[in-house]
Amino acid sequence: MADLRVEIAGVSFKNPVIPASGAFGFGHEYEKLYPLSKLGGISVKGMTLNQKDGNPPPRIAETPMGMLNSVGLQNPGIDYFLEKELPYLAGKETRIIANVAGSTVEDCVTMVKKIEGSAVDMIELNISCPNVKQGGAAFGTSCESAAGITAAVRKATTKPLMVKLSPNVTDITAIAKAVESEGADAVSLINTLLGMRIDINSRRPVLKNNVGGMSGPAVFPIAVRMVWQVANAVQIPVVGMGGISSAEDAIEMMMAGASAVQVGAAIFTDPYAPVKIIDGISSWLDCKGIASVKDIVGTVQPW
Ligand code: FUM
Repeated sequence: MADLRVEIAGVSFKNPVIPASGAFGFGHEYEKLYPLSKLGGISVKGMTLNQKDGNPPPRIAETPMGMLNSVGLQNPGIDYFLEKELPYLAGKETRIIANVAGSTVEDCVTMVKKIEGSAVDMIELNISCPNVKQGGAAFGTSCESAAGITAAVRKATTKPLMVKLSPNVTDITAIAKAVESEGADAVSLINTLLGMRIDINSRRPVLKNNVGGMSGPAVFPIAVRMVWQVANAVQIPVVGMGGISSAEDAIEMMMAGASAVQVGAAIFTDPYAPVKIIDGISSWLDCKGIASVKDIVGTVQPW
């Protein structure tokens, strides 16, 4: 059997498949379906310093081959996570990635300091949520602010630091280089693409927030393109996501340059998707006689 292990920023993962933040909560619902130990890791729902109710509904809408969300970072707050959710997750023999999405730089610094002595394996600094007025994508859409928040968080934690990038920018490689230069150990991309739908009878936007983040299979080619561009622009590992719904998608993303992948919207149509993707990668590698999944990373041969 092929070796599925990968390493990102000094953290070893038993396989390269990680449910994406916001698509897996804190794992409880899925533990009823399969052991969480099957997963390479779990990126938990984006957390803020204090509890947040998120945006008013409707905040989810289906789109052709995808979905829009404007959840607005509903979460129980970092203290609740550390006290109530982390002890449960820590016993699951999978890597725990804490997605940190503060509304200010100071909030993010406070959060990572709270996480410092905990069982969290890696921080995913979310500078790309499109659904909040403060923080989120406001940090991730200019090189200066992306670099500034990365530098502040880097100083405040010794945990491996991955920064989650927004596709809603002119040049995502410039943002990736900016966070790399301030000490990011890895980058993850893409977060959702800003979108909008309108109900033509009411003439109202479908989402109460008017706009929201689009994900799902429709965004996959955009994600592959951005992962390929970023992987060729930085020296740090890239974790790829955006519309991955099959083992073939995951393999394609890794050939584009991703060292691991996150699976998001696919979980809403098939909660078993991450496990099926792990098994499918393994079968494909065996079928091709490839000894290690690491051997396919970045192997696309551009024309
Ligand atoms: O609205 C949300 O909670 C989405 C978060 C994100 O895209 O990071």
